[in-house]
Amino acid sequence: MVRIVQITDSHMAAEPELVETRRRDLARAVEAANRLSPDLVIHTGDASNTGQPEEYAIVRAEMDRLTAPYVITPGNRDSRPRMREAFGDLGWLPEGDGLLIYSVQSGPVRVISYDSKGPQTNKGWADEERLALLEREITAAEGGPVMIFMHHPPYELTEIPDPFQYADWAHAEALNALVAKHANVELVACGHAHRYIPGRVGNAPAHTLMCNASDLRKGPAKELGDAPVVMVYDFDAEGRLKDARLETFSEDAVAPAAE
Ligand SMILES: [Fe+2]
Repeated sequence: MVRIVQITDSHMAAEPELVETRRRDLARAVEAANRLSPDLVIHTGDASNTGQPEEYAIVRAEMDRLTAPYVITPGNRDSRPRMREAFGDLGWLPEGDGLLIYSVQSGPVRVISYDSKGPQTNKGWADEERLALLEREITAAEGGPVMIFMHHPPYELTEIPDPFQYADWAHAEALNALVAKHANVELVACGHAHRYIPGRVGNAPAHTLMCNASDLRKGPAKELGDAPVVMVYDFDAEGRLKDARLETFSEDAVAPAAE
């Protein structure tokens, strides 16, 4: 069995009014993830609030408390160069100054980061260049099981005011068409919506997850207060998705940040 745990949208801030709660929220999510004994932790973006090095330094310090390896995909708030500076030594980010589309292997599952951060927009992006890079990563699995994680959900989020979170909806449709061509895509994990909204991408189940930053939760996710919540994905020995579920922890069930 392979277990992958998702954290998203920590929006880490360094300014005095925000740093305490944002850091505490990420520390709690890390502790919650550790209790689930995952094989890999994925962060689906907006790790930082404004893409500053000080924010990534905090994210790095807290994520390094994970007992499992972790990977991060960029959100609209993130900075590719600053992410490379903060996490480049961990070996999963592609070298150079291009897109952060890459893969890691977790047991039988090829876990692919799709970089959906658009140019000069807060919305998602899926042009031909990115789709070609994504397809290269999918086909490299040679039919073996694939999980894709990305910041912007390329499906209609019917319960929010603006359900279409790609700058050009044709991009989202093209991304769906690409995923639909590959039956080995088991799952697509997304962030950005700051609440839980299940959907489908291609023929694969997809989810958005409540944001880790408790003060930014939206809609029904607000009812969680500042309790940590993560998504758990369990795969069987062949890498087929067996279960995807939310895990919520009470605020005092997990230890606060050590400092
Ligand atoms: Fe976002």
